[in-house]
Amino acid sequence: MLPVDIHPDGYDLEQIEGWMKRAKPRLFYMNPTFHNPTGFTVPAWQRKLLVELAERYKCMLVEDDVFHDIYFEESPPPPIFSYDTEGYVIYISSFSKYIAPGLRVAVIAARSSIMKSLMPVKALLDNGSPLLNQKIFLLYFFSKRLQEHVAKLRIALQIRKEKMEQVLSASNWSWTSPKGGLSLWVQLPKGVAVDLLLERSLQQSIAFVPGSICDPLGHLDDWIRLNFSYIQQDLIEEGVQKLMVIADSIKQEYSYLILVIIED
Ligand SMILES: Cc1ncc(COP(=O)(O)O)c(C=O)c1O
Repeated sequence: MLPVDIHPDGYDLEQIEGWMKRAKPRLFYMNPTFHNPTGFTVPAWQRKLLVELAERYKCMLVEDDVFHDIYFEESPPPPIFSYDTEGYVIYISSFSKYIAPGLRVAVIAARSSIMKSLMPVKALLDNGSPLLNQKIFLLYFFSKRLQEHVAKLRIALQIRKEKMEQVLSASNWSWTSPKGGLSLWVQLPKGVAVDLLLERSLQQSIAFVPGSICDPLGHLDDWIRLNFSYIQQDLIEEGVQKLMVIADSIKQEYSYLILVIIED
């Protein structure tokens, strides 16, 4: 697996081209819209260039677009799939994020030659998704009710995100405000051991995703992903405040330890 950096303004295209030249990967998996865990979105101009790179180096792009509809103010750029004319992009999405994960209904769009190879694999893996679920879902998918549900969800999620950001603004933690998605990607100040923070937070029923497990190289150990989708605003406030208190106490213990070591 070859890791690629993503930044608030997209990918480092030179890095991607370097990998494509040197390692000739067959497939590049990406989650370019409100990326999990960072929340970053690849801008439209890069989307076109990514397709050109894929064509030039004959590397398939898998575009996981699961958060596309979960935007706050304005809709994100069109999918990378929409720039593809030569069949180098496989588009996947899912309804887990705004309907129900247990529904197990997802989307894949690709050239028919690719679909022909994928269909038997899917059938062999899980015997196929239940048809009854799919039939019921289809009615909901084309209904006005689904559109209304997603519209309400966008507002509710934006309010929760803003609440979380408002509470965090009392700290010196840093993050780039996402324009969609379900979580904040937050950098902690030096001296807060994330494993200890998680251990102590869990004791108070607060959970987060440590950045290191999102990184194939195991770095990013001063980053955490805080999810704002699941709980109500008042609990977000209480939880984030507690998290900040725990982090401060770890930081103080840590600086005290350094002092003792230096004094010894
Ligand atoms: C980027 C991304 N893709 C796909 C999925 C999985 O969706 P599903 O529940 O449909 O397997 C997730 C779920 O967390 C996700 O974050």
